Amino acid sequence: MTPLSLPPASLYVHIPFCASRCGYCTFTSTIYASEKADAYLDALERELRARSCFTPPVFPETIFIGGGTPSVLTLAQLERLFSFLPKSRGEVSCEINPDSCSREKLRLLRDCGVNRVSFGVQTFDPEGLRLLRRRHDSGQAIRAAATALEMGFRSVSVDLINGWPGQTEACVRGDIEKAVNLGIHHLSNYNLILDSSASAYAHYCALLGGEIAEETTGRRFWDISEELLGAAGFEHYETSNFSKPGFRCAHNVLTWRGEEYLGIGLGACSHRGGVRWGNTDDLAAYCRESGVPEKITAYSEKLPPEAKARECAIFWLRLFDGIDLRAFAEKTGFDFLELYRDVLPPLLADGILVLDGENIRVDKQCHPVLDSVLEFLV
Ligand SMILES: C[S@@+](CC[C@H](N)C(=O)[O-])C[C@H]1O[C@@H](n2cnc3c(N)ncnc32)[C@H](O)[C@@H]1O
Ligand code: SF4
Repeated sequence: MTPLSLPPASLYVHIPFCASRCGYCTFTSTIYASEKADAYLDALERELRARSCFTPPVFPETIFIGGGTPSVLTLAQLERLFSFLPKSRGEVSCEINPDSCSREKLRLLRDCGVNRVSFGVQTFDPEGLRLLRRRHDSGQAIRAAATALEMGFRSVSVDLINGWPGQTEACVRGDIEKAVNLGIHHLSNYNLILDSSASAYAHYCALLGGEIAEETTGRRFWDISEELLGAAGFEHYETSNFSKPGFRCAHNVLTWRGEEYLGIGLGACSHRGGVRWGNTDDLAAYCRESGVPEKITAYSEKLPPEAKARECAIFWLRLFDGIDLRAFAEKTGFDFLELYRDVLPPLLADGILVLDGENIRVDKQCHPVLDSVLEFLV
């Protein structure tokens, strides 16, 4: 197990502000206000210093600035953010809402070291955008991604959501085709997840008439994505993620392979020294106490080694490439085949898991029902 003295591989930075809340979203964020964001950036800097993971010459392999909506910050606030974040020689991602994107913000992000931008597009369909309560139209989304490509970011990604009420198969196809035609490097293609705390939950449920993203619907969307994105040269590397070769999201891949990371900010989760913890999601408390990490910790859990190894296996198997058994043993101290000796024979015999030399993976056909496969390995 990694001792606490070793730095984590990556840094996640949470920006918990949005211009307005989308009907489906339950992420930790609140409506943007300039003074609140200024106070938050001060608090974020205090937390980063207090956690003291990344002081030169130690740099994170990857940084991911997510939210909420990082792009809702003003140019001055973004500049302030980058004045205290560590540098990275690897991938530096930032999430952007097309509604709050401008050429100036993209230039500033690029000049501050961001080399991967991810746009929340969700759909190009006007009715879908209205229903999902997005603030932008499809033209803004297209212009934002095109500008980022023209400005030379190393990787440009788009998020789409499938399965919103009333979305037709033709619309799913149209969304994927429009995204691909932009010339992007990466696509995250999510099925709509409806949580009862989402602001438009009741409205969507009523529209869906109880037919919420059933397995058949999910499966149909999955097949369409495979067909269109495969033909366009994208690799399907994780349940919801597709990329051109060489453009996987390095930050997420590290996390799925069980590498440790520090998350700073409101509600941010971390995994370090074998401990998982999460920050408070009370903005006022966070801004007041962020300089004393113990005071902003909402939960903390150190799993026993075997439970930790099982958790690592479950995350890692999300990747279509599967688990390198030697690397798994090195990381966890457990032999995968030994750890799961009781459950493996039927899973291998039924072709649900595929053992190939030093590699074990979930068969591609089973990925649409991955959660039910992974239940056997908990
Ligand atoms: C933090 S947001 C991206 C940046 C920015 N906030 C935006 O929405 O443009 C991360 C992504 O999560 C996805 N997402 C959020 N809530 C979801 C839900 N309930 N179901 C499926 N995908 C969801 C959306 O695709 C969204 O773009
Ligand atoms: S989807 Fe993005 S913009 Fe919409 S509420 Fe969630 S974090 Fe904010």
